[in-house]
Amino acid sequence: MTYTKDALAGRVALITGGGSGIGLGIAKALAAAGAKLLLASRNVERLDSALEELRCLGAEAARVKCDVRKYEEVEAAVKTAGEIYGSLDIVVANAAGNFVVPAAEMSPNAWKVVIDIDLNGTFFCARASYEALKASRFGGRFLAISTTRALEGWPGCAHAGAAKAGIMSLIRTLSAEWGRDGIRCNTIAPGAIGDTEGVRRIYEDQGRKALELGSIPLGKFGQTSDIANAAVFLCSDAGQYVTGADLVVDGGRNRSRASTGYVPEGLWKETA
Ligand code: HXC
Ligand code: NAP
Repeated sequence: MTYTKDALAGRVALITGGGSGIGLGIAKALAAAGAKLLLASRNVERLDSALEELRCLGAEAARVKCDVRKYEEVEAAVKTAGEIYGSLDIVVANAAGNFVVPAAEMSPNAWKVVIDIDLNGTFFCARASYEALKASRFGGRFLAISTTRALEGWPGCAHAGAAKAGIMSLIRTLSAEWGRDGIRCNTIAPGAIGDTEGVRRIYEDQGRKALELGSIPLGKFGQTSDIANAAVFLCSDAGQYVTGADLVVDGGRNRSRASTGYVPEGLWKETA
C-alpha cells in the first residue's frame, strides 16, 4: 500500500504500544502518509527495534518509555512530543493487555491490571493530550482501539471485554465534548488480526485458530495494515466529518453469529 505523502504531512502522532503488532502497523502507515512519530510503551528494547525498522522505511520517529497506567508518565510522553517536534496532532491509544481466564477464576488483580492498561490508560492518554490536541493547527485526532467482542460477551476475557466496552463509551462522550475544539475521537474495532500477540494468546494458544478462521466470512485473518489503513482514514482529512464512530474492520466476523463460537455445521468450508 502506498500513501500520498501529504495526507498527514506536518502532523505529529503519539502511538502507545507502537513497538509491536497493530500499533507498529499503524506507525508504519501514519509515517508513510507523512506523520512524524513518537512511540510509547514500557519495553525500550522493543521500541528501539521498531524505530530501526521505521527509520529504514524513511520515517521520522522517536520513542519514550511510558507505562500508560501511570498518569505522570503519560503526561511526560505528551510533553516529550512537544519538546521533540513542537506539537502533537494525533494520539493513538493502542496499548493493551489481555489473557484468557474464566471470570470465576480471575483474581481481583488480574481484573484490575487489564482495566488499568486498557480503559484507564486510554482515559489517561486522552486527558493528558487534550490541550495539545486542541491546539493542533490541523485539528486534533484521538483514536482508540476497541473490539466487536466487547458488546457480544467475551467468555474468557471478561476484563478486556468490559475495558473495551468502556473505551467505546468514553470515545463517544469525548467526541461530543471535544467536537467544538476541533478534536475528532473515534475507535477502530479490529477482528482477529493475524501474526499478533492478541491472536496468539486468545485463539492460537487456546487451540481455537481453526474455529475462529471458520467464523470469518472473508475467510482469513486480517493484517495489521488493514487496521492501519483505517487509522490513516480516520486521522487524515479523508475522515474529516467522522467523529464518535466505531469503525469495524473484521472481515465480517461480527455479522456471522460465529464470533460467539457458533458456526452452523457445513456452512463454510474450513480454511485452516
Ligand atoms: C490468569 C493472569 C494471567 C493469566 C497474568 N495474570 N496473566 N491470570 N491467567 N494468563 C494475573 C497475575 O497472576 C496477576 O494477578 C495479575 O494478572 C497481574 O499480572 P502481572 O504479570 O503482574 O502484570 P504485568 O506484569 O503488569 O503484565 C500485564 C499483563 C501482561 C497484561 C498481565 O500479559 C502484559 O504485559 N500484556 C501486554 C501484551 C498483551 O497482553 N498483548 C495482547 C493484547 S491483545 P495476581 O492475583 O497473581 O497478582 C488484546 C485483544 C485481543 O488486547 C483481541 C482478540 C484477538
Ligand atoms: P501487542 O503487540 O501485544 O500490543 C500491545 C502493546 O501494548 C505492546 O506494544 C505493549 O508494549 C503495549 N503495552 C502493554 N501494556 C502497556 C502499558 N502498561 N503501558 C504502555 N504500553 C503497554 O498486541 P496487539 O494484538 O497488536 O494489540 C494491539 C491493540 O489491538 C490492543 O489495543 C488490542 O486490544 C487491540 N486488538 C487486537 C486484536 C488482534 O487481533 N490482535 C483484535 C482486537 C483488538 P510494551 O510491552 O513495550 O509495554
